[in-house]
Amino acid sequence: MTAKLIDGKAIAQNIRQQVATKVSDRKAAGKRAPGLAVILVGTDPASQVYVGSKRKACEEVGFVSKSFDLDAETSEKDLLALIDQCNEDDTINGILVQLPLPAHIDAAKVLERIHPEKDVDGFHPYNVGRLCQRIPVLRPCTPMGIMTLIKSTGVNTYGMDAVIVGASNIVGRPMSLELLLAGCTTTVCHRFTKDLEAKVRSADLLVVAVGKPGFIPGEWIKPGAVVIDVGINRLDSGKLVGDVQFEEAAERASFITPVPGGVGPMTIASLLENTLYAAERFHD
Ligand code: GUN
Repeated sequence: MTAKLIDGKAIAQNIRQQVATKVSDRKAAGKRAPGLAVILVGTDPASQVYVGSKRKACEEVGFVSKSFDLDAETSEKDLLALIDQCNEDDTINGILVQLPLPAHIDAAKVLERIHPEKDVDGFHPYNVGRLCQRIPVLRPCTPMGIMTLIKSTGVNTYGMDAVIVGASNIVGRPMSLELLLAGCTTTVCHRFTKDLEAKVRSADLLVVAVGKPGFIPGEWIKPGAVVIDVGINRLDSGKLVGDVQFEEAAERASFITPVPGGVGPMTIASLLENTLYAAERFHD
């Protein structure tokens, strides 16, 4: 392997440590611990795992974690009422509604109901709009964590040709705004993209978030490229793999994220950073 590994696990751990120190400093100064409300609707196993990790991370850094587990049949009206209640509650600095939501609930409506100053996932149209206009406040967690990883490499992103594969609201779209802000010429590929191979081969910086094991062949990677693999896919063997064929890609890339231990831990680290930021900026 010629690429250097980007150690997301270590970088995330470092951020968690820094957040924990700031929280204990706040408490020593007589300020309230930041509070995060985590709302889960239904029993999707993957969501239960993610939500469990988020709640545990909150407690580890000294936040107050408020858990709301609603059953899958919860009405949109009841969910909106819970969000209103959290918006009003001064002990709650951040509100997170785990996605996906059951089909009978309009996710866009729910996300828009969260007060923008408590929107620690950065999904409210206000916060996405701020990022789009180069005045970010609360930024979507996974792309924010990826920017932290890219910065850790020391590479200069200005003028890079960046290619993102996947155009979701959670990763691909906000990632394109982050990379544009970082001076990249940014291409977003999706299911209607023609000649994906040519686009990937042109990438100085590649971010892949499609959720398909080994979707990008390693031989497509441009020599010297920075490769960020957002996919976490479990094979029948139980092994976790990314969306990029790792071994082959690592022979060509300059930097690459492993799966697991790359992007995954950064989403929670960014969530903690956002929650602390919301508490300090808007609620002190
Ligand atoms: N589902 C998958 N990723 C995320 C995330 O970052 N935030 C929320 N709220 N739901 C998700």
